[in-house]
Amino acid sequence: MSSGMRKEEAAASTRAPMSLPRIAEMKRDGEPIVMVTAYDYPSARAVEEAGVDLVLVGDSAAMTVLGYDTTVPVGMDEMLMLAKAVRRGLRTPLLIGDMPFGSYEGSNEQAVENAQRFVKEAGCDAVKLERGGSSVDRARAIVRAGIPVMGHVGLTPQTATALGGFKAQGRTAGRAVQIAEEAVALQSVGCFSLVFEAVPSAIAEALVARLEIPVIGIGAGAATAGQVLVFHDLLGIHQGHTAKFVKRYAEVHDAMVAGLRSYAADVRERRFPGPEHIYGVEPAELREFRAYLEQESMAGEKWDWAATEI
Ligand code: KIV
Repeated sequence: MSSGMRKEEAAASTRAPMSLPRIAEMKRDGEPIVMVTAYDYPSARAVEEAGVDLVLVGDSAAMTVLGYDTTVPVGMDEMLMLAKAVRRGLRTPLLIGDMPFGSYEGSNEQAVENAQRFVKEAGCDAVKLERGGSSVDRARAIVRAGIPVMGHVGLTPQTATALGGFKAQGRTAGRAVQIAEEAVALQSVGCFSLVFEAVPSAIAEALVARLEIPVIGIGAGAATAGQVLVFHDLLGIHQGHTAKFVKRYAEVHDAMVAGLRSYAADVRERRFPGPEHIYGVEPAELREFRAYLEQESMAGEKWDWAATEI
């Protein structure tokens, strides 16, 4: 690795850090807001350099980087470890920590305590939580504790079972009204923004026109103030099923496999390392070292593992 700054990194270093007033201004001016997830230092460096506005350490990490089947099992300690790594790679985007299932539903005290951990321990600027209902109370408590909150309605993966599975929400007028009420309630307790996930575009369009805060859509059409996608989905790192709303901008998994195959083949065929990858030594130093080897026995004493008491 080199410590020299490339052109793209230099450009990123002059950008002003994102702020809540700036996000509100972007929504007011109709300037699209770009949000993406990140889960570690290299992904944070990439999104910083790409100049995105908001970064979410999503609980989608459960599936994309930790290998769980759903987002439900991931816990606070795992999320904090990932958020800390992202923080180290990020300077300008607003960093949002996604409160995992079971970290905020119990009580307002639990919600505030865990939101504070995202801010104090991982350096997040804000937190996100899912659903309306009791989450509205939790959001109010966290906002009152001085931490900005992003809400998330529509398809809420943490409670997908109760919603009938991973499918679009708000396709009936009744369910659309429910989403509208949740969105308005979250806005009224001070959420600075909302995520709409998997909501018909016409419903989202009608709803965002009635909301003051910016809505970031994922599978909610083009009328929202911004868009969010999961890093591993949009870059083709994640394999297997992807939702209808995902657009792939790269095939990184294929590129990784191809690179690893080439490396393995080079090692096996003795093509790597080449002369350009090795360090030299002065001939006189080498001669002296060889002379030492000829005089000394390098056998040394072998450790007797069998006789070791553990
Ligand atoms: O966890 C996540 O990645 C999310 C986004 C899809 C909004 O909640």
